[in-house]
Amino acid sequence: MAFETVGVVGLGTMGAGIAEVFARAGLRVIGVEADAEALARGRGHVERSTARAADRGKLTAGQRAEILGRITLTTSREDLREVDLVIEAIPEVLDHKVSLFQDLDRICKPETVLATNTSSLPVTAVAAATGRPGRVIGMHFFNPAPVMRLVEVVSTVVTAPGVTAEISELAGRLGKTAVSVGDRAGFVVNRLLLPYLNHAAVLLELGIATRDGIDDAMRLGVGLPMGPFALLDLIGLDTAYEVMEVLFDETRDRRHAPSPLLRELVTAGLLGRKSGHGFYGPQEPPKEPEKSTVITFAIDGPDVHGLGERLRAAGFRPSDDPDTVLHCTDRPVIEHAVRLSDPARLVGLHVVGDKVAELAGTALTSPRAAKAARDLMRVAGLTPVSCKDRAGFVTDALLFPYLNDAVRMYDSGYASMADIDAAMRLGCGYPAGPFEMLGYLGLAKVRDGLRALYAEYREPAFAPAPLLDQLVTAGVSEFPRS
Ligand code: CAA
Repeated sequence: MAFETVGVVGLGTMGAGIAEVFARAGLRVIGVEADAEALARGRGHVERSTARAADRGKLTAGQRAEILGRITLTTSREDLREVDLVIEAIPEVLDHKVSLFQDLDRICKPETVLATNTSSLPVTAVAAATGRPGRVIGMHFFNPAPVMRLVEVVSTVVTAPGVTAEISELAGRLGKTAVSVGDRAGFVVNRLLLPYLNHAAVLLELGIATRDGIDDAMRLGVGLPMGPFALLDLIGLDTAYEVMEVLFDETRDRRHAPSPLLRELVTAGLLGRKSGHGFYGPQEPPKEPEKSTVITFAIDGPDVHGLGERLRAAGFRPSDDPDTVLHCTDRPVIEHAVRLSDPARLVGLHVVGDKVAELAGTALTSPRAAKAARDLMRVAGLTPVSCKDRAGFVTDALLFPYLNDAVRMYDSGYASMADIDAAMRLGCGYPAGPFEMLGYLGLAKVRDGLRALYAEYREPAFAPAPLLDQLVTAGVSEFPRS
């Protein structure tokens, strides 16, 4: 089928972005909103986004005018009679979606494909409510839609042969890569991403590290484009909350139950960028640089990161009576601390990537030693992230369960390793997919880290996936690719 005219129903952040994507690819777009006010907001989204591209020299004024000229806005669904495809991007309320699809089924010509951009609701339930279940499909874009290069194409058991391929081909015309998936809550990306974001909120609530520390650790240490709180603000805390509710309903996995902190922020109307305030406020005061003091240090145990050398090169000398004793490790350090004559001086040090130093303070670490450790890390050219002395500190505690979930997803037969990797790279801008990350981290390291997390938090889902455990037991260091 040749898709030339497309309807987009709902012009919030996602719908407006989707309309822009189609118009940029040369298709005509009819955007529908409930009332004139919502329509004006939708128009504003597209105008701002294309203006920004024009300002950056990515579009000429003429191209921008052409894109805007291809988009017609209306408050009447009846205007969608002749379109070839409709994408629905209204809020995640199943009853509202079902009633909209019944309406679209009545209005649109019989061959029109009806697609939902739902993040997690069952596409099958929407399809089954129409008289054309074979031509109802999921077409899931990622925020910001004009930038993220993935579309999850969600087929159901009743999708007609050929429709998935047609929609995947259309995604290609839009400059996106399609990953074809079945109808399970969260599909690939949200099923892996949302528990990680939720867990970050749990760590914040537990006081394991600060908002900025956690964001810095994941962005600078792991190389993700955004930390979890900046990303939650981008996605919208209400949207993330709704997706988690749906995930929890399907899985009953308590890691999918939205964290109380998220509920509180959503209830308070702090929804992230869309409301101007979420985890981050509109105007954050600039961070005050901490004042450095004269510091002496010692390294307890093997200096796996060569920090002693770096610090000596910067003029610092190891001392017998140091302000801070650094212990390089990826495990809690309290056992080491209590063996020292002065446990208050010990700080655990875990270097993540080549930019971040996680600094674990125990229940006994003194504020002076913790500060001295932060100062030393800055001297060594690393961003310090202070955290509590808990299994996995920040990065491993967030990364390893996500990798474990990816292994479980693959092992369940839901998606291939290549599709899971591509989905996370293109949908979330990750520098590598989970199987690629497992490859360079090493399976045994991740398995052992998960065991430590499980032992500490007693969270069933942190227990290593049986497939991961078996591969390590068999002495395999990487996931075998077929
Ligand atoms: N609309 C249009 N274009 C945008 C944009 C927006 N809202 N935000 C950024 N861009 C464009 C910029 O114009 C720029 O384009 P050029 O390179 O062509 O000039 C490009 O994106 C990079 O932008 P910036 O330099 O301003 O910022 P950045 O390098 O920090 O990138 C980002 C911003 C693309 C958002 C990046 O941080 C990123 O990839 N973040 C991860 C986003 C993510 O994970 N999205 C998925 C969320 S999950 C989801 O959406 C599913 C769901 O159902 C909940």
